[in-house]
Amino acid sequence: MKKIIFWAVGFAIVIQVIRPDYTNQPIDKNITLDTDSQVMNVLKTSCYDCHSNETQYLWYHNVAPVSWVLSSNIENGRKALNFSNWKNIDPKVKLERLERAKKVVNNNMMPKSEYVLMHENAALGADEKRLLEAFFDAQIKELSVL
Ligand code: HEC
Repeated sequence: MKKIIFWAVGFAIVIQVIRPDYTNQPIDKNITLDTDSQVMNVLKTSCYDCHSNETQYLWYHNVAPVSWVLSSNIENGRKALNFSNWKNIDPKVKLERLERAKKVVNNNMMPKSEYVLMHENAALGADEKRLLEAFFDAQIKELSVL
């Protein structure tokens, strides 16, 4: 039994060596999303940790193997949709992502449930969902007339 604990603790320490690169890309104000403050508040509270270059890192972001899961969420989230590059996203891609955004918010697929467990205030209420839907619709409309 002692041996098992020894190896388990040893393993837990050794894996800490593999650290994700958490540097946030610099923010370019010319291309970030800029919309009314109510919408910004909801997006910043519920989406920005995975969909922007303004991720707020907490202590457990540095504890392997949790850190590996979180960093892959952030990396893949930014790939799917990055509000920090909002004005540089190809209009066709953006249109498609906005349609998806309406779906994932309505189906409670975003914000991810494991994220809501750790960030209770990220959960979207009915009002917040309506607000986001109206924002996504307005963006879609703007792109459709281009
Ligand atoms: C914990 C991290 C996290 C949070 C918080 C989060 N997302 Fe995501 N999101 C992801 C990841 C990772 C992906 C890539 C696909 C996947 O793994 O589901 C993604 C994908 C997406 C996509 C593309 C989906 C598709 O199928 O094309 C949209 C749109 C999206 N998220 C919108 C949002 C919105 C809107 C919010 C806030 C209300 C949000 N996400 C919050 C991690 C997150």
